[in-house]
Amino acid sequence: MRITAQDVHLIIDSRTILAKASMDAPDGTAVALTGASGSGKTSLLHCIGLLLPITSGRISVDGRDVTRMVGERRRRFWRDHVAFVFQNYGLVPDESVGFNVCMDKALLPRRRGGWPTDVENALAQVGLAGRSAEPVAKLSGGERQRVSIALAIHKRASLILADEPTASLDAANRRLIQDLLLAERARGATIVIATHDDELAAVCDATVALTAPDLTTVSAD
Ligand SMILES: Nc1ncnc2c1ncn2[C@@H]1O[C@H](COP(=O)(O)OP(=O)(O)OP(=O)(O)O)[C@@H](O)[C@H]1O
Ligand SMILES: [Mg+2]
Repeated sequence: MRITAQDVHLIIDSRTILAKASMDAPDGTAVALTGASGSGKTSLLHCIGLLLPITSGRISVDGRDVTRMVGERRRRFWRDHVAFVFQNYGLVPDESVGFNVCMDKALLPRRRGGWPTDVENALAQVGLAGRSAEPVAKLSGGERQRVSIALAIHKRASLILADEPTASLDAANRRLIQDLLLAERARGATIVIATHDDELAAVCDATVALTAPDLTTVSAD
């Protein structure tokens, strides 16, 4: 799945958040969104994932403008193709690891005898074999990120949107998350990663550096 953003403008409460933001992630590639804090990385990721409506511009999937997608089609696009990898975001903390891995599926089998084999297999791939019954609330940050990646693996997501997936992790866990994302790229997924992690950006196929339209809003870091 090729995902392209062309000249995206995002204005919220008369403030310009994104101005002429563009990026192109050909099928099966990983693109890093970099830039200072406040430059709009998360916002662009949300626009690409159709969580935020853009003010103007175009976001296309395989050449088709998806910003006009509404209702059931938008819901199905999400359900069938997109997976987010955010620390402490997008998971239901009080539910089990197994529930979280397959919650995007229309059918949620809550089985007494454990979760289906494909759920357990996805967890094994991210190094969480045998952990499906544990509540997510009891997992570490790195483990939660791996649950998000297990969800992407389980649904065989064509598009993975990752927001700072290695933030606040130690070097070993950063490497683990990086390797898992690269394995998803090798499977054929297209990945867009907002990151301050130079090592992660370096293994991506391309980097898009964003700058805040109104420089006075950029923090000093
Ligand atoms: N829903 C919103 N309403 C109003 N302003 C917003 C909203 N979302 C983001 N912004 C503003 O847009 C700008 C860009 O935010 P964004 O979170 O996209 O930056 P970022 O590049 O991801 O930063 P960081 O590296 O700190 O995560 C910020 O100034 C932020 O305050
Ligand atoms: Mg951000």
